[in-house]
Amino acid sequence: MQDRETAAILSVRNLNVRFGRSSIPAVSEVSFDLGRERLGIVGESGSGKSTTGRAIMRLLSPSAEISAERFDLAGSPLLEKTERQMGALRGKEMALIMQDPRYSLNPVLTIGRQVAEAARLHLGLGRAQAMDSARSMLQRVRISDADRVMALYPHQISGGMGQRVMIAMMLLAKPKLVIADEPTSALDVSVRKDVLVLLDELVRENDSGLILISHDIRMVAAFCERILVMYAGRVVETLTSLDDARHPYTRGLIAALPDPRHPVRRLKILDRKALEAEAAQ
Ligand SMILES: Nc1ncnc2c1ncn2[C@@H]1O[C@H](COP(=O)(O)OP(=O)(O)O)[C@@H](O)[C@H]1O
Ligand SMILES: [Mg+2]
Repeated sequence: MQDRETAAILSVRNLNVRFGRSSIPAVSEVSFDLGRERLGIVGESGSGKSTTGRAIMRLLSPSAEISAERFDLAGSPLLEKTERQMGALRGKEMALIMQDPRYSLNPVLTIGRQVAEAARLHLGLGRAQAMDSARSMLQRVRISDADRVMALYPHQISGGMGQRVMIAMMLLAKPKLVIADEPTSALDVSVRKDVLVLLDELVRENDSGLILISHDIRMVAAFCERILVMYAGRVVETLTSLDDARHPYTRGLIAALPDPRHPVRRLKILDRKALEAEAAQ
């Protein structure tokens, strides 16, 4: 029986990604299903997290070779879609929120124009209605002076405000799938939690599936029901609680981050020699 949680929005079996003639695959044999739930992907830099996320959006560079036994969005194979079909899905059925809103927003258009443009494109609204929709979406992401912000250009707003605008734009059409790739890494520590709480709230309200990508395993654990731990392109462990972590790499990731409940003076660094010895066994 497929209930609400298990009905797959995304179904991935043995996903492989290789760039150009590189002998080492960036992503190897990655498999998971996503329902209307929050899935975290964690791992150190270079472990293949962003490549996995961008492969789902089909936004990898042309040198990338993607193969998979199954790679379906709502039962429909993503690898068989034309670029035009993918264009119609992006923003409407699936959305990607990236690290730095300064690079994702168009620098020469006002915030209002950009959000309204997304409303016109994805909701098929006329000019005036699109502006109204943009205003209410900005209010929804707790921008109280929406009219003032709509007249500003991206360089005139803070990073935290920029990420709220991105979330408003990306979630406007209530996409089934939201991928957030290090959505708070470029933000001031003081606003990170607010942005994540807001994203979480909207994703739940829309009944969407969320993939939250981060190197910060504790942050991901606070928002996700399930966590895939990636190392060198592979999923080495799937967790529903940090307490279940068995793999030494996962334990290293946990130990390398500060635990606010147990402050330590010096943070541990990953013991790569021990890991390699373990992997060789
Ligand atoms: N466009 C690209 N061309 C070549 N190699 C790439 C490209 N993008 C990513 N890679 C390689 O793929 C691997 C995984 O990278 P990435 O998915 O960005 O890791 P993460 O997001 O976990 O930091 C790395 O070895 C990286 O160098
Ligand atoms: Mg990345």
